[in-house]
Amino acid sequence: MPLLAHHVPRPAQTPAGTTLVIDRPDDWHLHLRDGEELKAVLPHTAAQFHRAIIMPNLKPPVTTTALALAYRKRILEARPAGSDFDPLMTLYLTDNTPADEIHRAKASGVVHAVKLYPAGATTNSDSGVTDLKHTYKALEAMQEAGMVLAIHGEVTDRDIDVFDREKVFIDEKLIPLRRDFPALRVVFEHITTKDAADYVATAEGEIAATITAHHLLYNRNALFQGGIRPHYYCLPVLKRELHRQSLLEAATSGKPRYFLGTDSAPHAMGDKESDCGCAGCYTALHALELYATAFEAVGRLDRLEGFASHFGPDFYRLPRNAGKVRLHRQDWSIPTALPYGDRIVVPLAHGETLGWRFEASLQTNDASR
Ligand code: DOR
Ligand code: ZN
Repeated sequence: MPLLAHHVPRPAQTPAGTTLVIDRPDDWHLHLRDGEELKAVLPHTAAQFHRAIIMPNLKPPVTTTALALAYRKRILEARPAGSDFDPLMTLYLTDNTPADEIHRAKASGVVHAVKLYPAGATTNSDSGVTDLKHTYKALEAMQEAGMVLAIHGEVTDRDIDVFDREKVFIDEKLIPLRRDFPALRVVFEHITTKDAADYVATAEGEIAATITAHHLLYNRNALFQGGIRPHYYCLPVLKRELHRQSLLEAATSGKPRYFLGTDSAPHAMGDKESDCGCAGCYTALHALELYATAFEAVGRLDRLEGFASHFGPDFYRLPRNAGKVRLHRQDWSIPTALPYGDRIVVPLAHGETLGWRFEASLQTNDASR
C-alpha cells in the first residue's frame, strides 16, 4: 500500500541530498511493552526521541507509583549503551485509584500523566474505568496537583458504531467531565476525527491533543486495500478522508494544542495476522520519517519542529530539548519484519519506500537532566 494513498496534491519533491534539522523531538504517546519485547523496540524510539510518555497498559497494568518506578527501572536498563533516553511514566487509572496514589505519583517526579482507558476500549484495558464517577476523587486530586489526564477518547458501548465512538465520547463523556473539572489538564490522545480536532481547537481550559503519523497518512480505505490489512488496524480505527484532512490541517497549523504522539504499539505478527487481530501500528522504527512525509505532502515541513519538538514539552511543563536531529532526503525501503523477542513485528507500511531518512541525533541533551 503506497504511503499517502489518497488525494492530497504532492508538492514538488525536495531535491535529493536536502537535509532537515530540527530541535530534538519527544514522543508524547508510546507503547514500549516489557521484557524481551521492550529490549527489541526501545532502541528505535531512543534513536529518534529524547523522551516519551510511556503507556501503562502492561499485563498487569501499571496502576501504582511503585509499579511505575519499577517499570521505569526496567526501561532504563534496556536502553542501548550510551543512550540518554528519558522515559516519562504514567499511571493506569482504575475505578479504585485512591487520591493518595495521585499524590504519591506527583511526589515521585517521574510520573507525568495518568491514563484513562474506558474499560474494554482497547488492548489490555479490562481494568479500565467502568464509570467516570468512580474516579472523581482521583480526578480532584489530579486537578489540585496539576497532573495531566491522558484520555483514550472512545465510548465502549457495542451499540455505538465503531467509527462514531470518538465523537460520542466527546459529547457524552469529555464535555461533562471537563465541566466538572475545568482546571484539569487534559491530553486527548491520538485524535482521529474532525470532531476531536475542532473540539480541541476551541475548548476552554488546558487541553491539547496528540496525533499519530498513521492517522495523518491513511484513511480507512487502507484497511481494505485489495483485502484485509491487519497492520493498518489500530484503535481508534482509521477514519474517512475528510477526518484525515482535518487532522493534517490541525497538525500542520502551528497551533500549540496539537503535538506528536506516535502511539507506536507493537504486536507480534501472528497476533495481528489472526482470526481476531490485535490493534496497533508499529511506527517507532521510522516515526520522524513518517511525520516528515505527511508534513511535506501539504508543503508544511517548516511546521514539523513545533509539532514534534516544542509544543509537547510546553504543555507538559518540561524544558524543551537542547539537542538537534537531522533527517535527509533519501529513498529507502521499510523492512517487512523486525525481531521482537522470539517473534517478529511488522512495521507500518512495510515494503514501501520512504523519501526521508533519520540520520543522526546531533548532540546529547542536558537541558532536562
Ligand atoms: O491501536 C492501539 N494499540 N490502540 C490502543 O489504544 C492501544 C494500543 C496497544 O496497546 O496495542
Ligand atoms: Zn496507545
